[in-house]
Amino acid sequence: ATQEKEEAPHAVGRRVVLFPLPFQGHLSPMLQLAELLRARGLPVTVLHTDFNAPDPTRHPELAFVPIHEALPTSATSPDADIVAQLLALNSGCEAPFREALASLLRREDVACAVVDGQWYAALGAASALGVPVLALRTDSAATFGSLLAFPRLRDAGYVPIKVAEERRDELVPELEPLRVRDLIRIDGSDVDALCGFISRVADAARASASGVVLNSFDAIEAPELARIEKELSCPAFAVGPLHRMCPGPAPAEHGLHAPDRGCLAWLDAHPARSVLYVSLGSVARVDRGVFEEMAWGLAGSGVPFLWVVRPGSVRGGGADEPPNGLDEEARSRGKVVAWAPQLEVLAHEAVGAFWTHCGWNSTLESVCAGVPMLAQPCFADQTVNARYVTHRWGVGLEVGDVIDRVRVAERVRMVMLGEEGDRAREKVRDLKLQADQCVAASLAVDNLVRYVLSL
Ligand code: UDX
Repeated sequence: ATQEKEEAPHAVGRRVVLFPLPFQGHLSPMLQLAELLRARGLPVTVLHTDFNAPDPTRHPELAFVPIHEALPTSATSPDADIVAQLLALNSGCEAPFREALASLLRREDVACAVVDGQWYAALGAASALGVPVLALRTDSAATFGSLLAFPRLRDAGYVPIKVAEERRDELVPELEPLRVRDLIRIDGSDVDALCGFISRVADAARASASGVVLNSFDAIEAPELARIEKELSCPAFAVGPLHRMCPGPAPAEHGLHAPDRGCLAWLDAHPARSVLYVSLGSVARVDRGVFEEMAWGLAGSGVPFLWVVRPGSVRGGGADEPPNGLDEEARSRGKVVAWAPQLEVLAHEAVGAFWTHCGWNSTLESVCAGVPMLAQPCFADQTVNARYVTHRWGVGLEVGDVIDRVRVAERVRMVMLGEEGDRAREKVRDLKLQADQCVAASLAVDNLVRYVLSL
């Protein structure tokens, strides 16, 4: 590895243009990749939407150019249907992205563009301008592989889930350990619209991408990565875990929300591995009933907890009020914040487990911190990640389909205090060591930089 590190490519003049999807779980890995490429000597320009624009002052060595898109309010509303929102973002940003990229091409020597894999329109636009383009997948290789397999899954009757309801517990042959019920889905969204979106994403990757960049690494997804390369006949660079690879600001600083740092002092006052950290990420919302059961379950578990209750994350309102299930005793045992400095929380020795929605960033962050998980997937790729957490890597337990206070209390005690939790903790520590080795070697990053320079 030392030999290879000395030969790692560095200091070149050709510019790389990045285009992140404007959501927290997508912005962070793209900006981490930007810092990584910059540290290897590649000048980087980040084209970005005005909607959820990143803060350039946090990245003084990157160039930022807004594309000034005009979007319907339906595309930016927190209540928007997610699939409709992604379709609207793609159609609304295609022309402004193309113009911004074309204008850069007139001034700069652009080696390639890297756009979020959900930007199917931008993948096509870059390729039409003659710019080699790579797709950054911010989800797992297993998820991306399942999207590429979607037409076959539809023909075989595994999707949509409504059609396949009675087969929901069947394993999907080419995608084990996934069951039908674990395949990507978005409740409430139109099924045809979801399938249409997935086809556009997969078709654009096939037709326009010169390669795929994934926030994953060989030690956790080698077969899934190999399958993607085979299916797309182009290279896949697993450069993750990006939040560890990146030399720039801590990923928490890429945040769209200001973290409540007071919770770190609160954690300081707790013994090692005694606190459960609870967060359902940056997008997921739960019904008021589920929220109440979570609160009652936490209250009943007797375990100290740090709970992120994001404003607007409870349907039916009331998320800003302390949950009703928390009586005086439970309130004094728990701390509720609107947004946490998650990486620092997971690295804190007081944290014993993470009750998570299994967003891909949260999953990787938990693995890299060696913290076992309690999985409560809500939508999209989270069901895939949760299945890998519980049944491939064995680094967590399921909360279960129905969020019920008795079950919650039991599961919380199991992951924090039981043998099941100990086993998951042991396994996640092994995985963490493998992630550390991967970060130390960073071979995939070297390969990516060589590839970019060859384009
Ligand atoms: C969603 C998807 O589920 C995810 O898999 C996809 O790739 C991106 O969109 P999201 O809800 O944003 O993800 O979850 P996740 O991918 O886990 O990202 C959330 C990020 O916000 C993490 O990096 C986490 O550290 C950060 N976070 C979350 C905080 O910093 N503080 C918090 O309080 C909560």
